[in-house]
Amino acid sequence: MKSVKIGLLGLGTVGTGVVRIVEGHQEDLANQVATSIEIAKILVKDRTKARNIAIDAAKLTEDPWEIVRDPNIDIIVEVMGGIGQSKEVILEALEQGKHVVTANKDLMALHGPEILTKAREKGCDVFYEASVAGGIPIIRTLIEGFSSDRIKKIMGIVNGTTNYILTKMSQEGAAYADVLKEAQELGYAEADPTSDVEGLDAARKMTILSSLGFRSKVDLEDVTAKGISAVTQEDIQYAKKLGYEVKLLGIAERQDDLISVSVQPTMVKQSHPIASVNGVFNAVYVHGEAVGETMFYGAGAGEMPTATSVVADVVAVVKNMKLGVNGRQAHVSYNVTKQKTDEQIASKYFMLLHVEDRAGVLAQIAQVFSSLDVSIESVMQPSAPNRSGAELIIITHSTSKAAMNRVIDEFEKLAAVQKIKSVYRVEG
Ligand code: NAP
Ligand code: HSE
Repeated sequence: MKSVKIGLLGLGTVGTGVVRIVEGHQEDLANQVATSIEIAKILVKDRTKARNIAIDAAKLTEDPWEIVRDPNIDIIVEVMGGIGQSKEVILEALEQGKHVVTANKDLMALHGPEILTKAREKGCDVFYEASVAGGIPIIRTLIEGFSSDRIKKIMGIVNGTTNYILTKMSQEGAAYADVLKEAQELGYAEADPTSDVEGLDAARKMTILSSLGFRSKVDLEDVTAKGISAVTQEDIQYAKKLGYEVKLLGIAERQDDLISVSVQPTMVKQSHPIASVNGVFNAVYVHGEAVGETMFYGAGAGEMPTATSVVADVVAVVKNMKLGVNGRQAHVSYNVTKQKTDEQIASKYFMLLHVEDRAGVLAQIAQVFSSLDVSIESVMQPSAPNRSGAELIIITHSTSKAAMNRVIDEFEKLAAVQKIKSVYRVEG
């Protein structure tokens, strides 16, 4: 087999890592696929920009079509990001019979079914392992490793930037804005970090994971997402005192034909393995009906971990090329599922209230919970932080999301409650 030629779209954080691995691991790669793998052309926005890697300038182009329509190129590796042009370029690459490897979760969460359908029609591979949880091979694990099981729950810390921020806030008392800036400098955050901190990046990844895990069609709009911008140092410190860590968790659950997928800051019991996943690390906890509990852990973002997954996908494509079996991935979305309603989504909750500090207030609070059939697991009144009222921390037993919303509505009307400071889902 002649050497396999890659057209690399993007030479930023991930693209640079791809070049380093393809060049640095050449012998290992060649031993696995019995052919050499070569990066033939590279797309960038600005050819004159200074790069932190030595690149033959003749390989750089600003014209995606020069790469995609080059008959010598076998595999397109898309690590430029975005949705509009990336989609157009990938569809054209497939039209030209080229295989595609991408790290683009935005694109796969929104247009994955269309791209995968086109790939099958054209007999091409589209692999996207790096799109979720950077260096953790979770996509292949869900498709192949759990093919014999029925997955009931997937819980993931799937955004490295927010886990990095929450960890630094928890362990060092660092300020949110300072740590976000650090995460950007380290290449973890998206070009616009709003999608990281507001939970959209994690929602996109959970769309991909739940579709694969439940073998069902899950749309991004089915995933409710809340980010970490409202998480306070006070919440984090109270959580720790009670034996919890605050984590941005993606939670996907399936019961028969009902599913729910959400992303929210969650208080996780410190004894749960996912609570000790810190820094830029990601983890995906998978509970299968037969296998029970499993968890996968590794770096979720950054140049080399992400590039490892990208190049592993390239190796998978080349192995398929050798066997002549590209484009033969089975259709995995065969289960027909419905979204759970808020009455059907159950969990425990943490609530921090600022209330009037006088006789009878606790009884009024308890009456609201009782009248709405929400059972309280524990109540704590930390020593008064100021003279204007008291803080109350309540942890409920498992209740429906709808019942908890009714409790919040009642507290908003109750004069004794001065402020609902925070409400968190509780796991573990
Ligand atoms: P990045 O550092 O911003 O790099 C993007 C690269 O693409 C740059 O080289 C840029 O060219 C080029 N580019 C962007 N738009 C272009 C256009 N319209 N035409 C030509 N070139 C264009 O991005 P990244 O962090 O490497 O992320 C790339 C992809 O991987 C994204 O989809 C991201 O979500 C995903 N991802 C990233 C990570 C991570 O840790 N960073 C992890 C997993 C997945 P210039 O260099 O000339 O500006
Ligand atoms: N911005 C993403 C993160 C990159 O922080 O997890 C990896 O997808």
